[in-house]
Amino acid sequence: MLKKTILAALGLVLLAMLSLVILQFVYDPDWDETATPVGDAAGAQERGAYLARAGDCLACHTARGGKPYAGGRVIATPYGSINTPNITPDASTGIGLWNSDDFWHAMHNGKSRDGRFLYPAFPYPNYSRVTRADSDALFSYLQSIAPVAQPSPEHALRFPYNQRWLLAVWRSLYFRPGVYVQDTGKSAEWNRGAYLVQGLGHCNACHTSRGTLGSSRLDIDLAGGLMPMLNWYAPSLTSDAEAGLGRMELAQLVALLKHGSSNSATVFGPMAEVVRQSLQYLSDADIGAMAAYLKSLPQTAAPPRPKTIVSAENAASVLARGERLYGKHCADCHGEDGRGKSPVYPPLAGNRGVTMDSVVNPVRMVLLGGFPPSTQGNPRPYGMPAFGYLLDDQDVSAVVSYLRNAWGNRAELVAPAEVRRHRGVALD
Ligand code: HEC
Ligand code: HEC
Ligand code: HEC
Repeated sequence: MLKKTILAALGLVLLAMLSLVILQFVYDPDWDETATPVGDAAGAQERGAYLARAGDCLACHTARGGKPYAGGRVIATPYGSINTPNITPDASTGIGLWNSDDFWHAMHNGKSRDGRFLYPAFPYPNYSRVTRADSDALFSYLQSIAPVAQPSPEHALRFPYNQRWLLAVWRSLYFRPGVYVQDTGKSAEWNRGAYLVQGLGHCNACHTSRGTLGSSRLDIDLAGGLMPMLNWYAPSLTSDAEAGLGRMELAQLVALLKHGSSNSATVFGPMAEVVRQSLQYLSDADIGAMAAYLKSLPQTAAPPRPKTIVSAENAASVLARGERLYGKHCADCHGEDGRGKSPVYPPLAGNRGVTMDSVVNPVRMVLLGGFPPSTQGNPRPYGMPAFGYLLDDQDVSAVVSYLRNAWGNRAELVAPAEVRRHRGVALD
């Protein structure tokens, strides 16, 4: 009797799951949301161009050295590589035959014109928050750019990830379409910031912890995660131990987002790309709104600093080696006291990017070097040279261990094996 009840219950659960998956094929929320009437086409295009900046569409849809929006950029993922499609208005290879409804379906519900499910490497789980009016403006801008005849290459994903229809399962677990809902208890500025951060800005596409199948968590939590496709660590925007927005002043955060550098930090790696291609073009009002929203997020406190470093018996000799290397190769720019020279050389003392648990970013910076983005506030940025050729794994681990324990910083040492893992991995 009991056995039968359990079997029946299991059957019901399976049936419910199956119908959720099947629903993905047949149910399209907000499918028939009506288009906004196009009165002022030029105005809509101009607004669309701005929104395309906010969504950073160009960055993904342009191959290195390729024509704008013609696609062909390869995004490496743990499941194989994904190629971005051509979204210029070319009729045979781009989206020239699409109308604003087709475009809305892609942005809002992650389905292509022919109904195929789209991979969430296209951040539609975020773009789904975008209003129909903004989607229409984006579409009219994209239809106004130069068409390029360039076929979109196939993805090179491994089985079973190459089976698009399986995305139905992923969608039923992780994807909930829906336009951003205003929080009436909050100011218009806060809502604008939330709309941009959660929607076009797709900040949590990188700043989130990812589960299996590359899914960011459903709620837009911005809690930081290792981007499997990018080999960098996007720090939590809600922890004082990581990006530390709680302790950052509003003006510093605004400067960081708009200019790529403030007196406490500079952006690098993928974040430098975001500022270079997207954020620097946004209006002061929009950057201010995003910063105000981010500052309002509850921050988890940093855990107390470890009293002892447990990872190495020979800590003293590692740190001494690191200190020597630092004096020789790094102090000229970052200063003997680790304070850097604002705003061109970031401080390393008190820098949470250096002391957070994940050491990917400082290790990769030392190996590969980098340039902050050139922006209005920092038009001629100074770069950081690459030390990957000059320093071996022992040296790099020693110098980064030293950064993590000098000038009042305190964090675990870095093992040479950790450095080896990040050698030879391309910049993105
Ligand atoms: C992080 C990279 C990334 C960004 C940013 C991005 N896209 Fe995409 N986009 C993709 C990928 C990858 C695909 C292909 C998905 C697939 O094949 O399932 C895609 C697909 C599309 C498609 C569907 C094309 C088709 O033929 O089905 C449209 C439309 C599109 N993107 C528009 C945009 C717009 C508009 C923006 C900016 C608001 C944007 N994308 C930003 C990566 C990106
Ligand atoms: C393509 C992935 C990616 C996207 C999209 C992205 N970030 Fe980042 N972000 C990173 C990485 C990686 C870092 C660490 C490097 C650094 O500190 O500059 C970072 C760092 C940051 C920092 C800390 C900067 C510092 O140096 O202290 C802030 C603040 C930030 N991001 C905000 C945002 C906001 C707001 C958005 C959305 C508009 C966003 N990010 C979108 C990858 C991303
Ligand atoms: C020529 C000047 C210069 C030298 C020499 C130099 N750096 Fe840098 N460093 C920079 C600049 C500029 C940046 C910011 C780069 C960016 O934003 O892309 C930076 C960034 C960094 C970061 C990232 C900081 C953060 O906010 O998380 C680390 C870590 C770092 N440097 C460590 C070192 C170490 C270790 C050495 C010596 C082995 C060194 N640097 C030598 C100029 C320099």
